[in-house]
Amino acid sequence: MTKEEGRRQKEEGRGKKEEGRRKKNNSTFLSYQSQSPMPNAPIPMPNAQLPITNYPLGLSMTIEIQPSINVKTAIETRRAARSFQPDPIPPAILAEILRLGVRSPSGYNLQPWRFIVLQDQASKEKLKACAFDQRQVVEAPTVLICCGDRRATGSKNTEAVIELGKTTGAMNDNLAGYMRQAIPQLFENRPSFDSLEAWTNRHTMLAVAHLMIAAKSFGVDSCPMEGFVSAKVKEAFQIPEEVDVCCLLPLGYAAQPLKQYGGRFDVTQVYYSESYGQALQAEI
Ligand SMILES: Cc1cc2nc3c(=O)[nH]c(=O)nc-3n(C[C@H](O)[C@H](O)[C@H](O)COP(=O)(O)O)c2cc1C
Repeated sequence: MTKEEGRRQKEEGRGKKEEGRRKKNNSTFLSYQSQSPMPNAPIPMPNAQLPITNYPLGLSMTIEIQPSINVKTAIETRRAARSFQPDPIPPAILAEILRLGVRSPSGYNLQPWRFIVLQDQASKEKLKACAFDQRQVVEAPTVLICCGDRRATGSKNTEAVIELGKTTGAMNDNLAGYMRQAIPQLFENRPSFDSLEAWTNRHTMLAVAHLMIAAKSFGVDSCPMEGFVSAKVKEAFQIPEEVDVCCLLPLGYAAQPLKQYGGRFDVTQVYYSESYGQALQAEI
């Protein structure tokens, strides 16, 4: 057996294992629900604790859901899914993925990402027309329009972040004063980015990466997409002028088979030592 065949066989095996895990995830969910999740059931926010409403004696309790796939396996098995099965993502699992996605870091904790969550078929059809008719947009049960809001660079957002920090105990007057001075300077001087669009994209895509790995850890597949016409998406979904559309992210359960894995450059080609282009000798 060639190395490539071995790798492919391993991937197929993983696919089957994942199907089992997914069923387990969903059955855990279903066994604690009095009803099956509906495609457009409200997403229980802000966290995905499952209320157990049919607990005996009229008592109620909540349980926390845990992913069934560890981070390493989630990263290694995540693939861009070009076709999806119609099954909806159980609302509690979707809520947990969305919550984990925005645990992503951001400069000064400014959190410029914003997401439009599409679950209605009509909305997805509308988006498909803005996305070169790519089928995953209508097949996936849930699609996120992932945006970055340039207004997050302004003082109103800085004050909101300061207030948020106070609620967690992370903020004091010194830090607040520093932020009020340093943040406007950052956006005036832009020492590490040329445009605010680069800045919003930097942050939003980091959240998208979190979303994809969090999703995969629950057995949920995704497809990051830049194949769309930004102006059309903005018009169709009433996205304000100051907001950038960074990518689309269909989420759901991939229809097999996935496209052949395209591979990755060897780490020695993309990691350098101490200066750009200098070979990394040490084993990492
Ligand atoms: C920013 C970005 C934009 C992408 N845009 C599209 C897209 O419009 N349509 C598509 O089918 N795949 C898209 N992809 C998926 C890539 O083609 C895919 O990630 C790449 O080929 C590697 O495959 P893998 O993710 O399965 O390992 C995009 C990926 C990224 C990160």
